[in-house]
Amino acid sequence: MLAGGARRRIAETGTECGVGLAWLADGAGPGVELLSVEQDPARAKVAADVFADVPQVRVLCADWTEIYAHAPYDLLVLDGGGQAKGNGAADPERLLEPGGVLVVDDFTPSRTWPPSYAGRTDTARLHWLAHPALHTVDLPLAADLSAVVAVRRTNL
Ligand SMILES: C[S@@+](CC[C@H](N)C(=O)[O-])C[C@H]1O[C@@H](n2cnc3c(N)ncnc32)[C@H](O)[C@@H]1O
Repeated sequence: MLAGGARRRIAETGTECGVGLAWLADGAGPGVELLSVEQDPARAKVAADVFADVPQVRVLCADWTEIYAHAPYDLLVLDGGGQAKGNGAADPERLLEPGGVLVVDDFTPSRTWPPSYAGRTDTARLHWLAHPALHTVDLPLAADLSAVVAVRRTNL
């Protein structure tokens, strides 16, 4: 659904075998380019083969930081690196167009402030919710799943 709002470019970190990327490609309008990076060579090859006949989709075998070289994006899905969960936090001011959308999923719903997980402050989720360059919401999608969706502020 969010891919449908992209005008020019979409990126994803962590392609795995390309399932999420297929949804993004299906939702994106004509002319929108998609880039996905996967650090595992075997997974990157599987995904690249899946999209071999889809010229607007590119899969690179690389660390997530490779997305900086092709920014900015209208939609960025952080699913393997850059989520502020341990291997760095992506910089939305460098990676997103003003008004661009960021998605980070696989959180556990939390009703506390600051958000918590396993009895501790969830610093990854707090990073996005408190980010000065973003308007961010934490959307509970299931009993055990929430997703952070953020829009880059346009008044910076
Ligand atoms: C949860 S899976 C991604 C699922 C996929 N996006 C989907 O929707 O089908 C996470 C993937 O991120 C990759 N990954 C982990 N750290 C990475 C990094 N630093 N750079 C690139 N890919 C990374 C892993 O190898 C794994 O395949």
